[in-house]
Amino acid sequence: MATLPNAREVLEQIRKVRQIRRYRPDPVPEDVVTELLEVARWTGSSRNTQPWHFIVVDDREILRQISLLRAPINWVSDAPLGIAIVLDGASEISEAYDEGRVTERLLIAAKLLGLGGGVAWYGDAGQQAEAKRILGIPAERTARSLVTIGYPRSTRDPRPVLARGGRKPLAELVSFNRYGERWH
Ligand SMILES: Cc1cc2nc3c(=O)[nH]c(=O)nc-3n(C[C@H](O)[C@H](O)[C@H](O)COP(=O)(O)O)c2cc1C
Repeated sequence: MATLPNAREVLEQIRKVRQIRRYRPDPVPEDVVTELLEVARWTGSSRNTQPWHFIVVDDREILRQISLLRAPINWVSDAPLGIAIVLDGASEISEAYDEGRVTERLLIAAKLLGLGGGVAWYGDAGQQAEAKRILGIPAERTARSLVTIGYPRSTRDPRPVLARGGRKPLAELVSFNRYGERWH
């Protein structure tokens, strides 16, 4: 039995989590930021190493500088808030996995609280180094991304080169028992 009476509605909301790049200017209330950070803190990680540190960024100039790192993240300058994810830099592969997990939880939690979030990747090694400089992150740490948070204005992608929307059908994605064998 589902643990929540409205579990299907919650799942529907999770299914509808989208990348939000355009935000209303309204600030994100501090208690909401704390709730999001609590969700992040409780994310599972490889060997429970919890290899993360979170930088809450509402400084317009810092967000502007991050947005200039590469064109596909120019929309970051208009986000009311960012949570930069910093990894210990001890284990490249597991920390990449852990970063994905914590990011997705932030996006889901934001959606369930009536906000939205977006992933912004800094880019190549040089751009990551520049992001570390902007955010004051020690060079030996890993810093690849910032998650923007705010009240959505639109789900439209404002970038000139658009990624394709929608999703592949299950029939293309799922096998049964052995790779390539039809499921249903
Ligand atoms: C690892 C990763 C890096 C991403 N980097 C960016 C980025 O730099 N800029 C951007 O606008 N979106 C970025 N995205 C968001 C993807 O474009 C988005 O998840 C995808 O297009 C699906 O969007 P939708 O859920 O709104 O359909 C990134 C997503 C992931 C998982």
